[in-house]
Amino acid sequence: MGSLSLRRREPGSERSSHLFLAKPARQQEEPVFHDSILSLDPPQHTQLRSIVNRSFSPALLREWEPRIRTIAKDLLSQTPPVFDLIRDFAYPLPVTVIADMMGVPSKDQAMFRQWVDRLFMMENDPTNIRFADETKPDERERIRNVQLEMKQYFRDIVHARKQRPQNDLISLLIDSHSRGQISEEEILSICFLLLLAGHITTTNLIGNAVYSLAEDPETYRRLQEDYGNIPLFVEEVLRYHSPVRFVTRTVARDVRLSGEILHAGDTVVAWIASANRDEQVFDRPDRFIADRKPNPHLAFGKGIHFCLGAPLARMEAHIAMQALLSHWNRKEQIQVEEARPVKTIFLNGYEKLTIAS
Ligand code: HEM
Repeated sequence: MGSLSLRRREPGSERSSHLFLAKPARQQEEPVFHDSILSLDPPQHTQLRSIVNRSFSPALLREWEPRIRTIAKDLLSQTPPVFDLIRDFAYPLPVTVIADMMGVPSKDQAMFRQWVDRLFMMENDPTNIRFADETKPDERERIRNVQLEMKQYFRDIVHARKQRPQNDLISLLIDSHSRGQISEEEILSICFLLLLAGHITTTNLIGNAVYSLAEDPETYRRLQEDYGNIPLFVEEVLRYHSPVRFVTRTVARDVRLSGEILHAGDTVVAWIASANRDEQVFDRPDRFIADRKPNPHLAFGKGIHFCLGAPLARMEAHIAMQALLSHWNRKEQIQVEEARPVKTIFLNGYEKLTIAS
């Protein structure tokens, strides 16, 4: 239990928003990106989410399935027996997919990874719940510079798509813009959110899944025997090694919760990773049970902000596991040679995971 923790608002700080678009405390400058889906309340949230949601319909996702299989197979066809699973597979797979869906060139993915690394550069204080210590001007500057670069990058693509629309998400957003449903600033904020949310999380899910298989040869064998076991296994990875560790909320009015008084303006950190080990919900919560059922984990959040990309993330993870198992089909087991965890408390996964088979 104990999945809530509380941060007192510092005097003069802004109302907090979500981690992906966290506003600096004592912020003087205009924020680079406007509030996006993640940090909005209804009715704006409902309207924006319904526009973006059109690109993630089950029918559209089905169309993407063969393309994702091809990307997975191509990536694995180039790997030696010992390889860094993150660099060579778990990172490029989801980033290529989300870039293609949005209509941004996936050849720019080295730059996307660099942006992510700069945004989540938390070596000095990995427990910070925001991108960086926003009370420090140089930290604020670092975040702002990355965001400005990203904004300019998306602005150029949006302008190009205005001239020549394509069959992609950015063109669809521009279409909604021309019908007055969404502003250009909102389009840029959505691009920022989707490019980040659309890949770093899934990279961690795939990495954590492979780590679990290396740790548990019996589960590895059962999955090799029957790929039908993959979906329940992936759900257990989501529960046990939750790729996103927490979500934050701003208290709207004073309220008492579990004996604590929460004041309007406080930031509440709701720990997904803790809720997913809740002994009142899960039998033997600290055991990885590959065929756990039911498995009502909260890895994708809950309520109106429930992860919009959950069906895509699940599909990518299922395809990734099938491709990997088939790649290793003659191997008795796989082994982790080196595992270097990501350096932020927000995400749970590996920045390097060397696998030998
Ligand atoms: C394993 C992979 C993923 C995990 C664990 C994950 C986790 C989450 C969580 C916990 C939230 C809720 C945030 C909150 O309540 O404050 C969320 C929201 C969101 N996610 Fe994901 N996500 C994943 C993959 C994706 C993908 C692939 C996409 C995009 C294609 C995506 C797009 C979004 C968006 C747009 C929201 C905001 C929804 C809203 O505010 O209405 N996510 N995600």
